[in-house]
Amino acid sequence: MYTVTNEWKDTGSLLVGLFEENEVNKPTIDKVKNSCGVDLEAYIEAGHLSTESKKLDKVLVMNEMNESDLKNIYVIGLGSSQKFDENKYRKTFGRVFQSLIKDKVSSVTILLESLIPEGGNVERYSALLSEAMLTSTYRLPSFKTNQKEPVDINELNVWTEQEEKVVLEALYRGQAFADGVNTARYLVHLPANILTASEMAEFATTMAEDYQFELSILEKEDMEELGMGALLAVNQGSVEPPKMIVLKYQGLEEWKDVTALVGKGITYDTGGYSIKPKTGMPGMKGDMGGAAAVLGAMETIGQLKPKKNVIAVIPSSDNMISGDAFKPDDVITSMSGLTIEVLNTDAEGRLALADGVTYAQSQGADRVIDVATLTGGVVTALGSWMTGAMTNDERLYKDVEDAGKSVGEPIWLLPYNDDYRAQVRKSAIADLNNSPTRKAHPIMGGAFVGAFVEKVPWVHLDIAGTSIAEGAHDLGPKGPTGVMSKTLAQYIVK
Ligand code: BES
Ligand code: MN
Ligand code: ZN
Repeated sequence: MYTVTNEWKDTGSLLVGLFEENEVNKPTIDKVKNSCGVDLEAYIEAGHLSTESKKLDKVLVMNEMNESDLKNIYVIGLGSSQKFDENKYRKTFGRVFQSLIKDKVSSVTILLESLIPEGGNVERYSALLSEAMLTSTYRLPSFKTNQKEPVDINELNVWTEQEEKVVLEALYRGQAFADGVNTARYLVHLPANILTASEMAEFATTMAEDYQFELSILEKEDMEELGMGALLAVNQGSVEPPKMIVLKYQGLEEWKDVTALVGKGITYDTGGYSIKPKTGMPGMKGDMGGAAAVLGAMETIGQLKPKKNVIAVIPSSDNMISGDAFKPDDVITSMSGLTIEVLNTDAEGRLALADGVTYAQSQGADRVIDVATLTGGVVTALGSWMTGAMTNDERLYKDVEDAGKSVGEPIWLLPYNDDYRAQVRKSAIADLNNSPTRKAHPIMGGAFVGAFVEKVPWVHLDIAGTSIAEGAHDLGPKGPTGVMSKTLAQYIVK
């Protein structure tokens, strides 16, 4: 897949970057002229490469170069060499690789130095390249019987003066992040008749074997023994057994300083007896987007093997209707011992997460990050551009937010205080209620989960708006984004 050499190798296609300032481009222009026989300067002078095309975000393709065997040159406009916006670069790189695929190019040489402004970090740029390549060109699985033979980029030839080992390692680091994202996308894309809780457990089992994670799958009987009445209530109307999927990655000598990643794993959300309208139901196969992000992050962590301890906890079930299903007015007892008055069976994610975060703490979690497609309200508030967050610990939040920033997954903190805490505790009959009011309902969802993590630092991430892209974008196809897989992984491995 990757080769790193300091000699020009003609793969038919060359990818170079040009900055706005011509002086900076001199080495690039010289190198391309001397090695490939293509005079970029002449092209610039002839007006083929206008200033416009060197602006960041521009991708220019020059086909059928007659000076050499070289078929295509892809010129990426990088803007000013003084400004370095990693997230914009990532997207621009994504777009270049998408145009390679469109042109059915499967092999490309990249002049690495041409992409890096002075003082830029070679490792970061190399990792961005492979990450952008693999995420932007990812194809979701299809169940169509008549499929075209797809084109993949299977040779990335990095032309550079840099040390081979350094560049290769960075490329594999970017790949580890991309693999995590694509794993999450894949899982979210699978329909609920295929990705049941049991299938998700199977998937996690294979992952545990691949990366030597310690695995345990809690079955329904185990949940009954542990008193996980909240997750069990959600599962009550289902013919599919629930699973609590647990993966442990131990990168430290001892099992201490443990971060728990808890992902909502509702494989399908009909709403239960508080049933969703028929237009609100399609898409609810993606209600395990939190679980997918956690599994994606574990994939990255498994490849990069950081010196950290991580426990992944995924409470999984579908939310169905039958004569056995739970109902509004039911009172249930969670694993923590706290009782819950069910007011809305469609507020099922917080119930599953309640037992998830309680279990994580029973396994020694020192901090908890939960990820969930939890509320439609967060979509109204933030749209598909930012993930909504809540926290009881500013320091942990800052670290998670920074991780998100650095991987291009922005997060916005919603308020959380005693007023909000009080709302989820309003019940004439039980300790908590699962759906206080429509007011501030993304916060109510988070506050409910927060009631089960009072003693350790906690961050809640509501990805209901960010986990699905309405259209194709620079870094991937229409559909599941795999959001928060990179953020969680970055938080752990940074
Ligand atoms: N899975 C939904 C949230 C959701 C909505 C995810 C849209 C993705 C897109 C969640 O379980 C739910 O139904 N939430 C309710 C909560 C309400 C009953 C308090 C909601 O957001 O309306
Ligand atoms: Mn619901
Ligand atoms: Zn749901």
